Amino acid sequence: MKILFVCLGNICRSPTAQGVLEKIIADRKVEDIVVDSAGTANYHLGSAPDPRSIKYGNQRGYDLSSLRARQVSRQDFYEFNYILAMDNSNFQYLKTQQPADSVARVQLATSFAEDVSLEEVPDPYYGSEKEFNLVLDLSESIAHGILNQLT
Ligand code: 4NP
Repeated sequence: MKILFVCLGNICRSPTAQGVLEKIIADRKVEDIVVDSAGTANYHLGSAPDPRSIKYGNQRGYDLSSLRARQVSRQDFYEFNYILAMDNSNFQYLKTQQPADSVARVQLATSFAEDVSLEEVPDPYYGSEKEFNLVLDLSESIAHGILNQLT
């Protein structure tokens, strides 16, 4: 099972979702799930996550520091089982890019979150601690939902 989280810059929301799911997978000793993240935009290629994502993630025990931003590729649609968009704009973009013969299931990431009424994970880039912690809250709900529903 291969899961790709996608946001705009791949420096805030999708690396957080990746780091959270990877940590919970490791803690629960779940096997055979591979997690990655990517951005729809190309302006942060090769960058580490935003220092605020690293900092607030660290406070909950998630280490995002080794992740590096990349852009979604055509190949991703053939390689991943699920491509999970962090917001509606990312979702619409992915739908326009998906090759017709590819198998990936493109969904909103929150479609896996069981106790969440928000449809989108709000972009925290122009926010502060509160917005970054909301990304972490939602990423935890999404990760638990994925493990409940796919394992
Ligand atoms: P992300 O957040 O999509 O969650 O990684 C953003 C990162 C950078 C920008 C916007 C959103 N930006 O405009 O540079």
